[in-house]
Amino acid sequence: MIDPDRFEYMRARLKERVKPSRYMHSLGVSQTAEQLARIYGANENDAAVAGLLHDWDKALPASELKRIAKKHHLAPKTVRKNMPGVLHALTAPRSLRKEFPELSDEVLQAIERHTCGADDMSDLDMIVFIADIIEPGRTFADVAPLRAAVGQVDLDELFYMAYKSTLIYLLDADMSIHPDSLEVWNGIVSQRAQRMEARKSRVIVIE
Ligand SMILES: [Fe+2]
Ligand SMILES: [Fe+2]
Repeated sequence: MIDPDRFEYMRARLKERVKPSRYMHSLGVSQTAEQLARIYGANENDAAVAGLLHDWDKALPASELKRIAKKHHLAPKTVRKNMPGVLHALTAPRSLRKEFPELSDEVLQAIERHTCGADDMSDLDMIVFIADIIEPGRTFADVAPLRAAVGQVDLDELFYMAYKSTLIYLLDADMSIHPDSLEVWNGIVSQRAQRMEARKSRVIVIE
């Protein structure tokens, strides 16, 4: 549990570190993550903190992100070269751990996973990933169905929808996709198929 004064301090430090639009985005992700945690029964405080700090390293120059990622073996060469946009998530936990030692492993993991995801996402990981896409400042066309689904579908299904929209966005924009993302996607669709199957068999039992 982060006390309110400490949260305010984190907010002030972030404001010094990133440009105003990124700061506003971070506040939006923090508030949205907190709301999602309330709706889906996760830790609201962790969600608010992880959302606030998820783009902590976003203002670092690409050359610096690549240097840190190479030094600590955080990403293969192809990712460092072609997808520098994902590196800020992988590098942030190191500097955040030093800056705010009270941050839990769960919060740091959610921050680390907010660009590519992972095949064993926790509820908090999914909440930060989704909040990054649907916070109020986001304006891309596909965001409306995601926002409308909040509270109407379970968290796994909402994450499936959010991850899919991210992949579609990257494909439409002819952007590179992290090699792990395909594996993550395959895991998501296979777990979803199992959920559907389980639901179907429950319906048959009831009938
Ligand atoms: Fe980010
Ligand atoms: Fe973000």
